[in-house]
Amino acid sequence: MQPVMMVAGARPNFMKIAPLYAALQELQLPQFLVHTGQHYDPSMSRIFFDDLNIPEPDFYMGIGSGSHAVQTAGIMTACEKLCQDHEPSMAVVVGDVNSTVAVALTAAKMHIPVAHVEAGLRSFDRTMPEEINRLVTDCLSDLLFTPSRDGNENLLAEGKDPDRIHFVGNIMIDTLLQQLDRAQNAVIIDTLGLIPGNYALLTLHRPSNVDDPDRFASVVDALEIIAESVPVVFPMHPRTMKRSRSTGLYQRMKSNGRLILTEPLGYLDFLKVMSESHFVLTDSGGLQEETTALGIPCLTLRENTERPVTIRQGTNTLVGSDTETIVEAARQILDGKGKSGRIPELWDGRTARRIAQIIAAELKV
Ligand code: UD1
Repeated sequence: MQPVMMVAGARPNFMKIAPLYAALQELQLPQFLVHTGQHYDPSMSRIFFDDLNIPEPDFYMGIGSGSHAVQTAGIMTACEKLCQDHEPSMAVVVGDVNSTVAVALTAAKMHIPVAHVEAGLRSFDRTMPEEINRLVTDCLSDLLFTPSRDGNENLLAEGKDPDRIHFVGNIMIDTLLQQLDRAQNAVIIDTLGLIPGNYALLTLHRPSNVDDPDRFASVVDALEIIAESVPVVFPMHPRTMKRSRSTGLYQRMKSNGRLILTEPLGYLDFLKVMSESHFVLTDSGGLQEETTALGIPCLTLRENTERPVTIRQGTNTLVGSDTETIVEAARQILDGKGKSGRIPELWDGRTARRIAQIIAAELKV
């Protein structure tokens, strides 16, 4: 049997590919792992392979940074050659990054079946590059694995064939549940001088927040007020680091002793910091889900989300980037009025196994 091609490229892909790689291995399905190199800094890539015991990629494209078109085209060109040489029986892509759409598009044109893990999510906001990636990838995928029932509804509303849609649960939660015990050994809380339960955690990297100096400044205004009540830990994405330096916001944050700026953290350190935090502020997709799984209140610094289950059932609240709205929502949490939520259906740590079974059946193994 020809191998399955598993593709990862950017930080949020690695925790999704890890449990699936292991599940395919358990079923003894031949596979090879491709890293596009969209994220390449050791702190954005290598450390996740180490923390999550992901094997060395069989192929590394080394695409690196660039405009959307440059990045996508580079991955497509490299992927086409790889598919010609190795003739995979299926391409498995995860999430919504440029690597995801580039591989889906290349494989579909070469008549290689595509499986999309985390299908059906929609923010209905096409100014987000990820929304375009999600729409295109789902159009081209033969297997659509959804993390929540709203994903099925979105796909059906777009006219997708119901036979292709499989509600399997959230694969990131497989990794989170697997790693939670190990993360408890991390010494990062002491290293950063934090008191468990008595700090907030922030991540920020969306172009809509950090590439717009006014919006970024409005978030920093809120941080300064929140930091009067609790210290805020802020592991900074490379994009955010660059933008904050060029706008002077970095110096402003750095001079505030209660804002703790760090490099991007590895998976286990980050999980430890998140699981001991009082609450999280973020514009990431994955963190909205992980905080819901951990029962930690989350304030999402966006106007919309493609993960509405985290609002309806979980701990998430949308707050946008307005200073007062963010501060007021943080105050509610600090007053003990944060959401506690419940765990959404099938976020049970067994998603990768369900997906592997369906892939095996599709390939008639
Ligand atoms: C990408 C994903 C986004 C995801 C995020 C998580 C797309 C369209 N976006 O956004 O959905 O939430 O990853 O991190 O795919 N850079 C480095 N080192 C790295 C990687 C990036 O310095 O290892 C810098 C580069 O200057 C680059 C910028 O960060 O231009 C942005 O990287 P890019 O991969 O284009 O998008 P992200 O903002 O990371």
